[in-house]
Amino acid sequence: MGKLGEIMVRFNNKVAMVTGAGHGIGEAVATRLASEGARVLVCDIDGGLAEAASAGIRGSGGNAEACAIDVAQRDDVQRAVDQAVASWSRLDVLVCSAGVMERTPFLEETDAHWERVSGINLQGTFLCGQIAARQMVAQGEGGRIVNVASNSGTFGGRGRAAYGASKAGVINLTQTMAIELAEHDILVNAVGPGPTLTRPEVQGDLMASAVNRMPLKRYGLPEEIASVAAFLASDECSFTTGHVFAADGGFTIAGVMEG
Ligand SMILES: NC(=O)c1ccc[n+]([C@@H]2O[C@H](COP(=O)([O-])OP(=O)(O)OC[C@H]3O[C@@H](n4cnc5c(N)ncnc54)[C@H](O)[C@@H]3O)[C@@H](O)[C@H]2O)c1
Repeated sequence: MGKLGEIMVRFNNKVAMVTGAGHGIGEAVATRLASEGARVLVCDIDGGLAEAASAGIRGSGGNAEACAIDVAQRDDVQRAVDQAVASWSRLDVLVCSAGVMERTPFLEETDAHWERVSGINLQGTFLCGQIAARQMVAQGEGGRIVNVASNSGTFGGRGRAAYGASKAGVINLTQTMAIELAEHDILVNAVGPGPTLTRPEVQGDLMASAVNRMPLKRYGLPEEIASVAAFLASDECSFTTGHVFAADGGFTIAGVMEG
């Protein structure tokens, strides 16, 4: 942290890996960390998106490389960590934003779809967390891991059997990782976004059933989720671990809203 009045630059000399960073919340996180000095490995299953996002960061004067990986594949994740270390000699921060949100009625849910959603959202978070943490432990200087959960992991939601269960799993995994990695000074937290406007071309107006539960009554912007994730990824976050930090317009705290 700088002196009062200085611009916040919390990631000088830090190396960060961000998954799902080709688009949406992950891209906003990668951009934010790079704007504060991080060297960022922009990971996405869509190599074109990863390349475009990292080129965007470099075009703004930041330091980034692209890496095409499927977070559900151990060898891919290991290759990404190896790339970060080969390029920048270390890894300090992991942010897991890669995820898929596909609604399916419970009675129509299939094994294949369940495995796809939990494979990316939950197993992918496990693989990235374990492989990145092993690198951080070997370095011996601590680290920060931020998982992107969802308020669908806290409450049930229509069509969200696979998605919500995967995000509930991410929340519990975050807690266990926080306990086991504390002795290595690796702090593990999650950000819990509410409805976030990552695809304005298709998302339309926020549905009434969400608006009616949210004191702030609007979509969040990817940058608003990224600012919370950046705090959790920084050394400023030094006594918070295993926590889910909601960035959801009040969705998860709202009780009676009218009358
Ligand atoms: N947008 C929301 O309203 C919202 C709300 C709560 C939680 N979230 C969570 O935030 C995270 C990001 O969501 P988003 O809205 O930015 O989505 P997005 O679709 O805009 O971006 C997700 C990115 O992840 C990538 N990806 C998908 N599968 C992958 C895989 N197997 N390996 C690597 N990359 C993969 C995609 O190519 C895409 O670029 C997700 O985990 C999502 O569940 C989003």
